[in-house]
Amino acid sequence: EKGGYDYFMLKEIAEQPKAVADTLLGRVDGSGTLSLDEVRIPASVLREVDKVVIVACGTAFHAGLIAKYAIEHWTRVPCEVELASEFRYRDPILDQQTLVVAISQSGETMDTLMALRHAREQGAKVLAICNTNGSTIPRESDAVLYTHAGPEVAVASTKAFLTQLVACYLVALYLGQVRGTKYGDEIRDVIRDLSQIAGAVERVLETMEPVRELARSLAHKNTVLFLGRHVGHPVALEGALKLKELAYMHAEGFAAGELKHGPIALIEEDLPVVVVVPSPRGRSVLHDKIVSNIQEIRARGARTIVIAEEGDEAVVPYADHLVRIPVTPTLLQPLVATVPLQVFACELATARGNEVDQPRNLAKSVTVE
Ligand code: F6R
Repeated sequence: EKGGYDYFMLKEIAEQPKAVADTLLGRVDGSGTLSLDEVRIPASVLREVDKVVIVACGTAFHAGLIAKYAIEHWTRVPCEVELASEFRYRDPILDQQTLVVAISQSGETMDTLMALRHAREQGAKVLAICNTNGSTIPRESDAVLYTHAGPEVAVASTKAFLTQLVACYLVALYLGQVRGTKYGDEIRDVIRDLSQIAGAVERVLETMEPVRELARSLAHKNTVLFLGRHVGHPVALEGALKLKELAYMHAEGFAAGELKHGPIALIEEDLPVVVVVPSPRGRSVLHDKIVSNIQEIRARGARTIVIAEEGDEAVVPYADHLVRIPVTPTLLQPLVATVPLQVFACELATARGNEVDQPRNLAKSVTVE
């Protein structure tokens, strides 16, 4: 059942290219068109949407944070992302023009379910992004876009996360397509890029041995920090969450720009800091800023573990460890940048003798509030 792997988590990490491809199947094609007829919210309703609110927990919440960048960029509709457990307690502003997107692998997370019930009571339309056919969250939503990750057994979410990202991009692109924005050409290009992305994930998986080795060498550490900017910030949060739940280590993710507002005080000799570097193409200002962040922390003794695009030479002098990821469009980078962080956490957990598939105190599906 584990298909020759020691743990379900390893198997599920390896299944990610297929999970991504399956989630795209029949929805995008190489010519740059998108068909999401299964989302049964009429185009006329989607054109009237004036706000998107995403609700989710844990790893699914991180997918939502990334979705915000994509939705606001491609659709020009404001998007908020909220922890489902906080949502209904702060009296959120919702009406018929609000599209609520509830993201959940299991479809049974009580916090997310309560958030969507609250949203529907206020008249909002709810679209579920879910991996489990016929589960409660899609049943109670107006529409559903299923992720096709297949069953995820390991408690720590990996392939479901990548497919949640794919579904979020599809929703963002679809909304952009239906509403028509100045990004029409870019949307077509990205749809084409998405049809190649499973291959990029596959290439990352083929180069993970040095990451495993590095993880084993850090098994005695107490703390690892993660930094990112733009969509790399939620990736950093996800890397930190994986490390907490699997390796039981103190791990924190920060927006790199926040360093100087506090977290830089944490940097000390030999502290491992993972930095997710945005592409030097596109938003190159961000790239340059993060390179100076890496310089700053390294000058203070940090051991820098740099995740950067192939061909990005600017990071080389400041990287104690360099992990290469394929070139992708800026907004899609999380699909490849997250994978090394999953492998890193899984290997650290093994090296520390932890139960990889069943971390202590955790359950796969959290059906209590
Ligand atoms: C982390 C993890 C959890 C879940 C969260 C939401 O690896 O698995 O943080 O992502 O409990 O679960 P779902 O997506 O089932 O609503």
